[in-house]
Order: sequence, then C-alpha cells, then structure tokens
Amino acid sequence: MRDFFPGLAGVPAAKSSVSFVDGAEGILEYRGIRIEDLAEHSSFLETAFLLLFNHLPTKLELEHFNRDISQRRRIKYRIIDLLKSLPEQGHPMDALQAAVAALGMFYPTHEVLDEATRYLTAVRLIAKLPTIVAAFARLRRGDEAIQPRDDLSYSENFLYMLTEQIPDPSLVKIFDVCLILHAEHTMNASTFSGMVTASTLADPYTVISSAIGTLKGPLHGGANEAVIHMLEEINSLGQIPAYLDHKLANKEKVMGFGHRIYKVKDPRALVMQGFAQQLDAHRDTQSLFTLARAVEAHMESRVGTKGIRPNVDFYSGIIYHRMGIETDLFTPIFAMARVTGWLAHCFEQYQENHLFRPDQIYEGPHHRPYEPLETREPHSQ
Ligand code: ACO
Repeated sequence: MRDFFPGLAGVPAAKSSVSFVDGAEGILEYRGIRIEDLAEHSSFLETAFLLLFNHLPTKLELEHFNRDISQRRRIKYRIIDLLKSLPEQGHPMDALQAAVAALGMFYPTHEVLDEATRYLTAVRLIAKLPTIVAAFARLRRGDEAIQPRDDLSYSENFLYMLTEQIPDPSLVKIFDVCLILHAEHTMNASTFSGMVTASTLADPYTVISSAIGTLKGPLHGGANEAVIHMLEEINSLGQIPAYLDHKLANKEKVMGFGHRIYKVKDPRALVMQGFAQQLDAHRDTQSLFTLARAVEAHMESRVGTKGIRPNVDFYSGIIYHRMGIETDLFTPIFAMARVTGWLAHCFEQYQENHLFRPDQIYEGPHHRPYEPLETREPHSQ
C-alpha cells in the first residue's frame, strides 16, 4: 500500500519564500514581515511590491510602481462589451474569471521568463482586476461602468468606481488593510491551482483565471459571502444556539470557522474583528457584528477545543457589508488582493519549474470485456 494523503494535507508541494504561516502560534509573515506590522504601516500596493520583489520598495520604486499601476487601470471596450453580454444574475467571480482569461488574448504573453514582460503582466493584472469587478457590478444593474481615476489611490479608486462617490478616507484605510490581509497565504487551494497551471508554462492571465475559479468555492474564498447569508439566516441572538447546535450535530460546516493550518484564531481575523467593531459604532444589538461575536462565543464553547475558530472570512464580509458593498462582490475583492500572492508564486514556479503531474491510486477494474451496443443491459448502480 502506498501512502495517500487526501487533499494533500501536510504534503509540501513546493519550496517558497513568499510567506510563512505557523498555525499553532497564529503567525503569518509575508517575505518575513508580520502581517500585523504590514496592516499598521503599509499600503496594499507597497505590500504587493514586497510580495512580488521580495523587499520593501524605496520611495522612488513605490512611486514608479504606483504610477505604472494607475496608468493601466483602464480596460478595453471589448472587455466591457464582454461583461455586458454576461447574464446579470451570473456570479461576479465567473465574470471576473472570464474577463481575466480574455485579457490574455489582448496581451499575448509568450516569454513567461522575461523579467520586463513579467513586470508588465503583474502591473496590468493588479491594475485591471478592480476595474473589471466594479464594471460588472454596475453594468448588471444597467448603469454605465465608471472610468478609473488616475489621481486616486488604489483602494480609493476602486470604491469610487463602484459608487461614483469619493469614499470617506477612514473607510479607504480599512478597505486597504483588508486587501493587505488577503494578499497572500502560502500553499492554499487557489495558489496551488494557479501553480499547477503555471507549471505547464501557461501565461499569467491563464494562471490567474485558474486561481480565480478555485477561490470561488464556499470552502475557500466563497466563505466570506456564505458567512453573511448565515448571519442573515440566524437573524437574532436567541436563534444562535439552536442554529449552530443543529449544524454541528448534522456535521455541517459553519462558514467562516476552521482552517487546515490554524488551530488558534486566524491572526487576520483578529485585525478584521477590530475594524468590524469600529464600524459597528452604535453597538446595535441586532447588527451582524453583534451576531457574529455571539456566534463566535457559542462556537468556542462547542468546538473551540478542536481548534475550530474564526478564519479570515468570518469578519471580512461584515466589514464590506457595513461599507455598503454587495455580498457577491466579497470574493472578487478577495481575488483583487490575492492576485499579488498568486503572481508571486507563479513567478517562483516559472523560475524553478517542474511540471505538476502527481500520481493516483487506481481502484477500478482491469480486463473488462467490450460489450457490443446491441447486447448491452441497462447499467445498475
Ligand atoms: N464547522 C463545523 N465543523 C468543522 C468546521 C466548521 N467550519 N471546520 C472543520 N470542522 C470539523 C469537521 O466536521 C471535522 O470534524 P470531525 O473530526 O468530527 O469529523 C473536523 O473539524 C476536521 O474538518 P475537515 O473539514 O476535515 O478539516 P479541514 O482541515 O479540511 O478544514 C476547512 C478546513 C475546509 C476550511 C473547514 O474548516 C471548512 O470547511 N470551514 C468552513 C468554510 C470556510 O470558512 N472556509 C474558508 C477557509 S479560509 C480561506 O480559504 C480563505
């Protein structure tokens, strides 16, 4: 019998210097720097630079990186046409995945190892994802997409493209930190899926569209959206014990809890909880934040000893909801941030490439006779 690890749990699939996680201590570092320090002092684009180039930028480098991104925020009118042609009830993650795959057709990238090409591709993807997400959000309501503004910061511009209003600076700051906290997280499902695609030497647009598809699922990035639906379903503090106990008794997953790596509370959830509390200034007894705190307390009493605690997705949705952002945009926003980590891993993969081609344990039959169509009996399960 060969060893088999369902979900590849605990199996190293690559060597990497992009980020480090200690699930027992609740430590997450990007390129060696603690996320708490980045959350306090950095900006999303500075963190993106750190992840991509392995050092914090100088003032001049950051200026150039900001400028290069600001100048590439526009998207081709044909991408807008593509978004217009998609069903308005369709999930924005699918629209994003389709548009990113289509971007690759406008910017064919054959030399994936060429440094200048890599830089330009990374800058384009980081710059254009927010424009695509905001454009789809408006077009599906019948509104015109709003042109990006070069004079606004990355996060300010995204929130502006969603609403056509210049957002409050304190909200811009919170949003920017949320992007920092979502930017990277070692060998997770979407990163792995992107790396498998990169290992075929497919271009970064294809790599990122693979990763977006994987992030969508409710066991991964889609959980932030599912948390809001769950809290809305619970609706009142009194319902919490019955709702959660029923789920736990039926072995159903409670969204926003649990993690393959963390056995303590996810350090990103701790920072986000602070922001969610800050935004819940009136301490409304029925607010999603109040409900969330009570859900966390109940879960702690039931499954805390098993290490099932809030993950990054538990409080992020509450913050975005409070900012007035539509629930199905939460995971696309996650993708806008995570594109930086995906690219960093994709470039590592290109550098030391070895095609991913794992093995399997075959459990099917052998030497089956070929039955002619005329004599085949109905198949019984
Ligand atoms: N609610 C209830 N029970 C849970 C939860 C949860 N959220 N998470 C794990 N468990 C329980 C399982 O039922 C299982 O119990 P058992 O040992 O009695 O059978 C045990 O904990 C182990 O669960 P697994 O699913 O095998 O653990 P895994 O490491 O694969 O789980 C995962 C990780 C998939 C994230 C899981 O915790 C989950 O589904 N959480 C809910 C979805 C979610 O929030 N996903 C976002 C993760 S963060 C991110 O991707 C950005």
